[in-house]
Amino acid sequence: MSSNAALWERRMAAVARGVSSATQRFVDRALNAEIWDVEGKRYIDFAGGIGVQNTGHRHPHVLAAMAAQLERVVHSCVQVMPYEPYVALAERLNALAPIAGPAKTLLLSTGAEAVENAVKIARYATGRPGVIAFSGGFHGRSMMAMALTGKVAPYKAGFGPFPADVWHARFPHPYHGVTVADTLADIAHLFKCDVEPRRIAAFLIEPVQGEGGFTVAPPELMRALRALADEHGILIIADEVQSGFARTGRFFAMEHYDVHADLITTAKSIGGGLPLAGVVGRAEVMDAPPPGGLGGTYAGNPVACAAALAVIDVIHEERVLERAQAIGERFRERIGELAADPRNGIGEIRGLGAMVAFELVRPGTHEPDPERTRALTARAAELGLLLLSCGVYANTIRVLVPITVEDLVFEEGLALLARALEETA
Ligand SMILES: Cc1ncc(COP(=O)(O)O)c(C=O)c1O
Repeated sequence: MSSNAALWERRMAAVARGVSSATQRFVDRALNAEIWDVEGKRYIDFAGGIGVQNTGHRHPHVLAAMAAQLERVVHSCVQVMPYEPYVALAERLNALAPIAGPAKTLLLSTGAEAVENAVKIARYATGRPGVIAFSGGFHGRSMMAMALTGKVAPYKAGFGPFPADVWHARFPHPYHGVTVADTLADIAHLFKCDVEPRRIAAFLIEPVQGEGGFTVAPPELMRALRALADEHGILIIADEVQSGFARTGRFFAMEHYDVHADLITTAKSIGGGLPLAGVVGRAEVMDAPPPGGLGGTYAGNPVACAAALAVIDVIHEERVLERAQAIGERFRERIGELAADPRNGIGEIRGLGAMVAFELVRPGTHEPDPERTRALTARAAELGLLLLSCGVYANTIRVLVPITVEDLVFEEGLALLARALEETA
């Protein structure tokens, strides 16, 4: 068996530098919320492969569904010869997604692809090119997704030019001085100075920003966007690649709002670890592009669809939505206790359900502390806890632990987090 150090050396020699890794430890195996590296060291996984393991690593029901599908067909390409798991998953997603009226689904492989396709569909349905997205938003690494992403380094710098007809408004974040009124003023300013509303196909918004720092879109913003969209014939695309699939205590974070999106993107935890993504939306919008306009060779792979059907069953059978709520509450409670000690430098604690995070700030201020954040994630890994940072200011610690984590393992992870905070204070 290779050591972490030897593998890292090989990796540095063989793999492009642009692919970053949060740790230089190599995974050997994983189960639910625990991971073991190639040297046998155990970690508690608060990262979940960046939000992909909401139902845990290698859930037995999901593995069994994958294995059963492997025995039948691994790939035929839906454009060549369709298969039932694709249709069955579309039916389930159409019933689950908070879309007004009848819904239809398109399956894909990655989050970026889902975003690209949602924009294609919105453009075709409206006959308009423009998209308004938000600062701090992250939508993927393909060209259009990069254009839509609202953070320059490391995602956009040096990779342009990007597709045109993309604009950004500030995403509200009162802790750092941006209100809903500021966001709406930005949109009004865009309509006055840059682009007329009838050139805009869609608003693209994450109900809870993922990479941006787990900032929650206030309900009044979502209502105001819906009103603007209805007034000007614009569609709303909710990017739920990270906020979806039980993370916030609902299948989709949009269920927390009293207005609907027209299109929702989904990926990450839907496939139980296999690459799978989708766009679910109002049937007449989804049906706008003609046959052949949408798809992809691997899009909606049968094994991934079988896994997704099992993931949905697990979410129902194991009451994962309620569990997400409980995990989020316990996390807030524990971090709230730790925040009482000013030396810990814990700023805002925020999120929805189990999509929770906290900022590290210089004690007594709202000033972000990215250096401490880096030190904390590094120390946590040494102690056996995989932690992810995020945020526009790279000072936010987010929790994407499998929602199916056992109580004891979760508490152990929280204790390691407290220790890492103390040791890096
Ligand atoms: C909200 C959001 N949209 C899109 C993406 C891109 O997904 P993928 O990396 O699968 O292309 C991500 C990935 O983190 C995301 O969080």
